[in-house]
Amino acid sequence: MYESWETIKSECFECRRCPLGETRTNLVFGVGNENAEVMFIGEGPGEQEDLQGEPFVGRSGQLLDKYLAAVDLDRHSNIYIANIVKCRPPHNRDPKEDEQEACMDWLKAQTRLIHPKIIVCLGRIAAQKLISPDFRVTRQHGEFIEKKGFLMMGTFHPSALLRNPAQKPDAFEDFIALREKIKEICAHTYK
Ligand code: URA
Repeated sequence: MYESWETIKSECFECRRCPLGETRTNLVFGVGNENAEVMFIGEGPGEQEDLQGEPFVGRSGQLLDKYLAAVDLDRHSNIYIANIVKCRPPHNRDPKEDEQEACMDWLKAQTRLIHPKIIVCLGRIAAQKLISPDFRVTRQHGEFIEKKGFLMMGTFHPSALLRNPAQKPDAFEDFIALREKIKEICAHTYK
């Protein structure tokens, strides 16, 4: 049980619980408001994230920032962003199940400290890990599901939108639905 940001950060940055810890340049802990009511969770760092130590700073991150800005969300003010795994999987492969498991304690500790009302899963890996193992993004994106005291929603991963721009309007609708849900249940996100 990690009770403060100092303890979780100091231990997490030394983490060698899985082989990804051996090949990382930087551990990508997370970014944003530690009191956010809305938390976004991606899959794992890519090349730019590994180099810069911040989630979603490559091409997919630039796209994510545009969607966020469209609904008045910003990584430096009113949300928090993290990933299922904190170290880059080689060649950007999917994180393996045991790597995801090894990293879960950190994400759980972060989530406990932030205590968001809404968690948005970016892409299949996060949605299947956190919402349901059989989650299908194309069918269930944009649906809000209550789980463990959080309202959870899965949407398209921005990298998937770069590969398949035809899905962008659906993703945009998810962000609009998110804005409405925030207005409904969050007290200070849009203050
Ligand atoms: N993709 C992710 O899932 N997370 C990042 O931080 C960057 C790209």
